[in-house]
Amino acid sequence: MSALSELYKEIAACRRCDLAKSRTRPVPGEGPENAEIMFIGEAPGWHEDQQGRPFVGPAGQYLDSLLALINLKREQVYITNVVKSRPPGNREPLPAEITACHQWLERQMEIIHPRMIITLGRYSLGKFFPGESISKVHGTARKRDGVIYFAMYHPAAALHQQSLRPVIEQDVLKIPPLLARTESVTETKSPPQQLNLFG
Ligand code: URA
Repeated sequence: MSALSELYKEIAACRRCDLAKSRTRPVPGEGPENAEIMFIGEAPGWHEDQQGRPFVGPAGQYLDSLLALINLKREQVYITNVVKSRPPGNREPLPAEITACHQWLERQMEIIHPRMIITLGRYSLGKFFPGESISKVHGTARKRDGVIYFAMYHPAAALHQQSLRPVIEQDVLKIPPLLARTESVTETKSPPQQLNLFG
């Protein structure tokens, strides 16, 4: 069994928080084990909970169209969320739920070892760069331990707020040149409180 399949079995058996009781299906993530780019969203919504797959509802369709702008198909990238089970009524994930799931995201990053991590929305940004504001850092890249982190608005935000569409579309166009020139991004020194990324 592949490392990801093994991990998905463990996620399906996880009972670390109450979301396991209310969810229909776990939504661990999907994509190839050797993906260069990893997209990390917030939490599954209704469609994702029904299908057990990330970003398959309206936000996912928009994400697919963003990928198409840079000639990528979703099968070429790895897509997951900070939280692997749907919060009831699509409420925001609670800090305890994010903490309960942190080991799964950590394992996914270890297995996939992406060259670039794209954070979608503020929960995903907050996982890696706590306290930063998405409106300030979207469209910017940083390198930590050799991995490029690129912050973007959540695709759902652009669905609710049309004025964000050109912003998110401009941001996504920055991905290919960044990937082509990862050495041009200088390494960020992590302040001590950020050393444990998933604390
Ligand atoms: N929003 C997310 O953050 N993740 C999904 O998988 C779907 C919608």
